[in-house]
Amino acid sequence: MCGIFGYVNYLVERSREDILNNLLAGLSRLEYRGYDSAGLTVDGDKPGESYVARQVGKVAELRSLINDSGYDLDRKFMSHVGIAHNRWATHGQPAARNAHPQRSDPASEFLVVHNGIITNYAAVKSILESKGYVFESETDTECIAKLLKYVYDSNHGLDFKKLIELVLRELEGAYAVLVKSVHYPGELIAARKGSPLLIGVKSERKLRVDFVDVEFPEFSVGGDSTDNYAGLSDDDNDVDDRYFPGSAGGMGGAPSISLSKLSLDHPSPAGLLRKSGTLLGDGGLFVPSGGMSDLRHSQSRAFISDDGMPIPTEFFLASDLPAIIEKTKKVIFLEDDDIAHIYDGGLHIHRLRHEEGQSNIRSIQNIEMELAEFKRGGYDHFMLKEIYEQPESIVNTMRGRLNFENHSVKLGGLSNYLTTIRRSRRIVMIACGTSYHSCLAARDLFEELTDIPISVEVASYFIDRKPPLFRDDTCIFVSQSGETADTLVALKYCLERGAMCVGVVNVVGSSLSRLTMCGVHINAGPEIGVASTKAFTSQYVALVMMALLFSEDRLSKLQRRQEIIEGLGTLSAKLSEVLELNDVIEKTAESMKDKTKMLVLGSGYQYATALEGALKIKEISYILAEGILMGELKHGPLALVEKDLPIIMIATKDKLFDLVSSSVSQVTSRLGEPVFITSKNGPRIAEHAKSVADGKNDADAKADYVRFEVPETVDCLQTILNILVLQMLGYWLAVKKGYDPDFPRNLAKAVTTR
Ligand code: F6R
Repeated sequence: MCGIFGYVNYLVERSREDILNNLLAGLSRLEYRGYDSAGLTVDGDKPGESYVARQVGKVAELRSLINDSGYDLDRKFMSHVGIAHNRWATHGQPAARNAHPQRSDPASEFLVVHNGIITNYAAVKSILESKGYVFESETDTECIAKLLKYVYDSNHGLDFKKLIELVLRELEGAYAVLVKSVHYPGELIAARKGSPLLIGVKSERKLRVDFVDVEFPEFSVGGDSTDNYAGLSDDDNDVDDRYFPGSAGGMGGAPSISLSKLSLDHPSPAGLLRKSGTLLGDGGLFVPSGGMSDLRHSQSRAFISDDGMPIPTEFFLASDLPAIIEKTKKVIFLEDDDIAHIYDGGLHIHRLRHEEGQSNIRSIQNIEMELAEFKRGGYDHFMLKEIYEQPESIVNTMRGRLNFENHSVKLGGLSNYLTTIRRSRRIVMIACGTSYHSCLAARDLFEELTDIPISVEVASYFIDRKPPLFRDDTCIFVSQSGETADTLVALKYCLERGAMCVGVVNVVGSSLSRLTMCGVHINAGPEIGVASTKAFTSQYVALVMMALLFSEDRLSKLQRRQEIIEGLGTLSAKLSEVLELNDVIEKTAESMKDKTKMLVLGSGYQYATALEGALKIKEISYILAEGILMGELKHGPLALVEKDLPIIMIATKDKLFDLVSSSVSQVTSRLGEPVFITSKNGPRIAEHAKSVADGKNDADAKADYVRFEVPETVDCLQTILNILVLQMLGYWLAVKKGYDPDFPRNLAKAVTTR
């Protein structure tokens, strides 16, 4: 996964230094998406000249390279296009030659930054090589730049949008791309398919979205769609009503628009890979200022004043909101197959292809978040900040959705679909990594409350297997980013089979939230740390609320439901209590930091906690940590237990406590070194462990075992308190070992490639 950023100023005077600072600041805010190399390009001093800087390492390294470059930083530009990129390597090792922008030729006629993966790049590359092109990198992206030049050279006179359209038709895979070219000065192309891309707009005009009928009379339009933003809200009652599904869904109040297709022979002058194809009508989606009635595709201006004078405008293009929120709150989220063309201060959005029924609404949304929400706010790391935010973030997840007086749940994003969901033959939960663990944690409760068979699937394995799936299945997709490629491919599979597809998503406007039919935003706020923390607890709370809602019609569950809702009401205060363990956890981490392996044991509800805790420890401290179901201990993993092996035992009190107690005996009688997570005022499990160890009469038996005592809550909610301990332990192990927990090696925040 990578981060891309673009900056366009139109009739706004900016020095080269301002432009570079804008690009570098945008990249810094996207660093969590990739940080093995970075690069950018701006105009050079002579017409047709571009400056390109690429560097291995983080954005700071790129900044130093630029500082040493000798560019004339004072040079002024009234209108300019700059593009930039943070890389997380997929094709080719981290190296300057593999960093972006990738160029078409030594003169850099076309420069491309790209997030995603071009799956047919090898075929494109070999055809271009046979035509004399010499590739300089191992990236798939380079084939886009070179293909642009090839198509351009074979078809002089193409406008920029047409050129990119022809090129994109030859490519397979996923992309968000920005393209800049000396042949189209002052113009920028942005396109997406399968990777996120959004455009922030800053202009003195009040912005409005209009859809204009252009080029093809079959294209019928309707509806004004301003401000459909479904983000955080103070309005308790409709937080969730504004889940923002896209074309697949039937809710959200988006006017339905039909786009007639024009089937033409594909006039690909490139003629590279396909002889013919389908060229669809130009969607002609414009984003003009108000008061314009007679726009035509060829000479439209998106932002001009009532007196016809052009308006100074800036555009900020980025993979994610943190990169632009400081500059503007007006944002347009591009959809798959959108091509945005910016020129003369205007933004024009076209469709590469358009299926019947797909939404072609592109609203300018007013983002209510502040940059502070993305910043570290006094903490050393985002991860620690996000750990500490959990007493608040889980409340935000519940806000306006739970009524503690009449013990009811309201999830507005699901209300129109409840009957269908309750009648499902089966519920399939699909996710990856931490999000998968939240599903696993919720499974028992779903089964208990709904009596509907539940299966929980790792998205990648689900896709590999392509299991049978039916129209009366409900599939719940859980994702923090909403951009995880495996989860999105699984979603497509389920949509194709007519299943009810529900999203549980943190990032508003993400692909998953747009493509699912309905769903719930977890409203945890931006999660920047690569290791997921607050998203896990909020996902779990959201899933618990869903289970409560789905079982609302079941009288037999009344008491249990009340108990859980009351438990949710006291959870935040209990989380704050667990945070007080931070100092003792830090000390424990100091004493454990040289261990190379450890086990995390849990049973029942705590099995998912053990898996998630082990994931947290291994992904940031690089200690080999394995989560194990206690009942499985004797079926193999017990062989690993030896003197001094740290074994974190989740031993909070619940109905499986006897099993926990027997596992503790199995471990301590072999002189493993248990570290307990136990209930305050619960059974004295650590003492029990010690007496077993003492019984071995080993002189080295520990005098006392480390234990972290957490408050007790309803059994199915205990996960939320227990995982906090493991998140903190993982964090401190990483810090004590000298690693940066926000940037674990080889990992990125959203995995947008398969
Ligand atoms: C681990 C972690 C990952 C993600 C996984 C899915 O800390 O963050 O395992 O949970 O990549 O990501 P989302 O939830 O964005 O789909």
